Amino acid sequence: MSHKKIAIVTGASSGIGKLLAEGLPARYALDELWLVARSEDRLLALGQKLSVPVRALALDLTKEESIARLKALLSEEMPDVRILINASGYGKFERFDRIGEEDAAGMADLNCRALTLVMHAALPHCSEGSMIVNIASVAAFQPVPFGAEYAATKAYVLALSRAVNLELRPRGVRVLAVCPYWTKTAFFDRANRESVITHFDCMYDPAFIAKKTFLAMKRKKDYVVPGFVAKATHALTKLLPHSLVMRVFLAQQKLKNK
Ligand SMILES: NC(=O)c1ccc[n+]([C@@H]2O[C@H](COP(=O)([O-])OP(=O)(O)OC[C@H]3O[C@@H](n4cnc5c(N)ncnc54)[C@H](OP(=O)(O)O)[C@@H]3O)[C@@H](O)[C@H]2O)c1
Repeated sequence: MSHKKIAIVTGASSGIGKLLAEGLPARYALDELWLVARSEDRLLALGQKLSVPVRALALDLTKEESIARLKALLSEEMPDVRILINASGYGKFERFDRIGEEDAAGMADLNCRALTLVMHAALPHCSEGSMIVNIASVAAFQPVPFGAEYAATKAYVLALSRAVNLELRPRGVRVLAVCPYWTKTAFFDRANRESVITHFDCMYDPAFIAKKTFLAMKRKKDYVVPGFVAKATHALTKLLPHSLVMRVFLAQQKLKNK
């Protein structure tokens, strides 16, 4: 019996995840697309637009039962997971001691714990040539004052992705970490409500991030930093001491209520 070929995209209801989900059917031979996020209506609306059958999974990935549901579905249907894209994530930009407990736990829960558990759930169903794409951030390359926890979660995503990519080489399964700079998405609706950082110097189009992600998937890279400003930032974080990088970052931002 042949297993149906699927892609799973978390964070598919909006922004980078949505654009990646939209771009998959034209690039990969898939029998089904599993779309994950909390907003079922948006997943269903996206499903209507796509040329492959879609399964809309309205799951809050910070909840244990959501991971259990995904695992159970995978065990029941035994698909061949050709692609997993982990794009669910969020950030808060605030002094750490002023972040509410819910978000202090929530960022690590979604950006790290859920991403890890979804990878772990999908891997038994991956086969040679399968690919995992984790959306990290340029924030992964340096400590970010007033985005301290967010950046730390993304450093985790980058380190996990690159090391697991090497570990999984014998299985022929690849892991790619994508490290975007600021990107114009609903990310800022959630981040901005009480944000200390009020000025975001350069904003990329999420379509550009998606395009570069697909290119990196094709080129079998283990991480990609899309765009010149992002690449320049990355280079500086490698060249300069992080104490200086953090001071430069602070000087660039317009901070309120510091
Ligand atoms: N925008 C940027 O500047 C930027 C830069 C670098 C990296 N990133 C990263 O890129 C990824 C995508 O973000 P985006 O910019 O596209 O922002 P976005 O438009 O806000 O998308 C975030 C996605 O995560 C989903 N999500 C949020 N909470 C969730 C939960 N508890 N369970 C399941 N899904 C959840 C959201 O769907 P629901 O609300 O429907 O659940 C949405 O689909 C994130 O990991 C983000 O950290 C963003």
